[in-house]
Amino acid sequence: MEQAIDILEAAGVDCRQLKEPSRKLFFFTPDRQIRMILVKPNDVPTYVEYGIADMGIVGKDTLLEEERLLYEMLDLKFGRCKLVVAGFPEKRDVWITHSHTRVATKYPNIARNYFLHKGKSVEIIKLNGSVELGPLTGLSDVIVDIVESGRTLKENGLVILEEICSVSARLVVNRVSLKMKNREIKALIDDIQRVVEERENGKVN
Ligand code: PRP
Repeated sequence: MEQAIDILEAAGVDCRQLKEPSRKLFFFTPDRQIRMILVKPNDVPTYVEYGIADMGIVGKDTLLEEERLLYEMLDLKFGRCKLVVAGFPEKRDVWITHSHTRVATKYPNIARNYFLHKGKSVEIIKLNGSVELGPLTGLSDVIVDIVESGRTLKENGLVILEEICSVSARLVVNRVSLKMKNREIKALIDDIQRVVEERENGKVN
């Protein structure tokens, strides 16, 4: 959220209200041109698909998991991590040939699609967090999860077995809003894109 606010502010969106300590869930910019709502990551694609929000900022992992109908407009290049299959190092070779593999994950759709594509039969066990406990407790053989620094895996004796894809924050837009509010949305996307590109080029830190 901090990085999202940082990019929005650099793109000219006044986010002062958002940064004030409070339990409010929606805010207006001082000119009341933009309303911002705070929702859980998994709910961002839902609010955008239904047009409650014209635009949203959300991780690619959540987009892949939720499979909502919306436009992914920009890679915001923060929140970078990887979606991986991880497990005990000694299971590295065994699990590939093992006929029945249990996979613990917060991402059941991503995991199902990934293993389906590989033609591997797996049992998906949905967890809501701390999925590294899956192999540690014997609940699962492997996990599908995001890895950023790698510290959680390392400290729990797990390793990456396969990389599924790279993840970063994305700007998404409602399909109808893009047509109906094209000028305003495109202008904001252009401003945000400029900020992202400047940062990528190292002009602004
Ligand atoms: C995420 C992810 C890993 C950890 C990876 O969990 O599910 O557990 O971060 O980060 P690292 O590679 O930098 O160690 P999160 O912090 O979202 O908590 P959760 O497991 O309770 O969902």
